[in-house]
Amino acid sequence: MSTSSMSRRLSQKTILITGASSGIGRSTALEFARTAPDCRLIVTARRVAALAELKSCIEKEFPGVSVLVYKLDVSNQNEVSGIVEKLPPGWREVDVLVNNAGLVKGVDQVGSISPTDIADMINTNIVGLISLTQEVLRSMLSRGGHGDILNVGSIAGRDGYAGGSIYCATKAAVRTFTEALRKEMVSTRVRIMEIDPGQVETEFSVVRFRGDKEKADTVYA
Ligand SMILES: NC(=O)c1ccc[n+]([C@@H]2O[C@H](COP(=O)([O-])OP(=O)(O)OC[C@H]3O[C@@H](n4cnc5c(N)ncnc54)[C@H](OP(=O)(O)O)[C@@H]3O)[C@@H](O)[C@H]2O)c1
Repeated sequence: MSTSSMSRRLSQKTILITGASSGIGRSTALEFARTAPDCRLIVTARRVAALAELKSCIEKEFPGVSVLVYKLDVSNQNEVSGIVEKLPPGWREVDVLVNNAGLVKGVDQVGSISPTDIADMINTNIVGLISLTQEVLRSMLSRGGHGDILNVGSIAGRDGYAGGSIYCATKAAVRTFTEALRKEMVSTRVRIMEIDPGQVETEFSVVRFRGDKEKADTVYA
C-alpha cells in the first residue's frame, strides 16, 4: 500500500498504543504521526514523563497530530477495567489498538525463576494484553464492528530459548490468542494482526538485566 493510501486510511483515526514510553512503542507512535499527520494518538505506559516528552516531540514535528498522554499499567486490572469510559470525551472511539507493552525479566532457568518475575511477565504480556483487547474490542463491536488490533508478539513465541522460558511462553500465548481472535472476528471488519519482531535494540534488555546497561549492551554486541 502506498504511503498516501495509508495516510488516507489512517486520516483522523484514533490510535491507542501501549508501552509508548520507549523502544518499539515510541517508534510506532512516531511512525503513525509521520504516515497520517492528522491522526490522534493515545500514548500510554507507566512512565508519564517519557510520554510527555514524546507528545511534545510529535506535536513539534507534526502539528496536525493530537496526542493524549494516558498513564496505563496494563498489568493493573483496576486501570484496564472500564478504560474506554475513563478516556476523556472525544477520545473514546479507538480505531486502532496497538498492544505493544511487554517485558522480560532475568535469564533464570526453570527451577530458579522467581514467582514475582513469573507473575510480572504473565500479567503484563498475557493478562494485560487480553484484558485491554476485551475492553477495546467491545467498544469496536458496539460501534458497528470495525477497527484494527495489532498485537506485538516475538520470534521467541515461535522458538523457545534457554533462560527465556516464561517470556517465550507468554509470546506463544499472544500468538495463539491472536489466531483465535482473528477467527472469531472473521465476519466483522475488525482486523486482527500480529507482528513478531526479532532482536531490536531498545530498553528491553536493560529491563531484563534490571537496569544493568553494560550487561544489556553485550546482548546486541
Ligand atoms: N526488543 C526486542 O528485541 C524485542 C523482540 C521481540 C519482541 N519484542 C516485544 O516488543 C514490545 C516492546 O518492547 P521494546 O523492545 O520496545 O522494549 P522497551 O524499550 O523496554 O519498551 C517496553 C515498553 O513496554 C512498557 N511496559 C512494560 N510493562 C508495562 C506495563 N505493566 N504497563 C504498561 N506498559 C508497560 C514500557 O513502558 P513503562 O516502563 O513506561 O511502563 C515500555 O514503553 C514488547 O512486547 C516486547 O516483548 C521486543
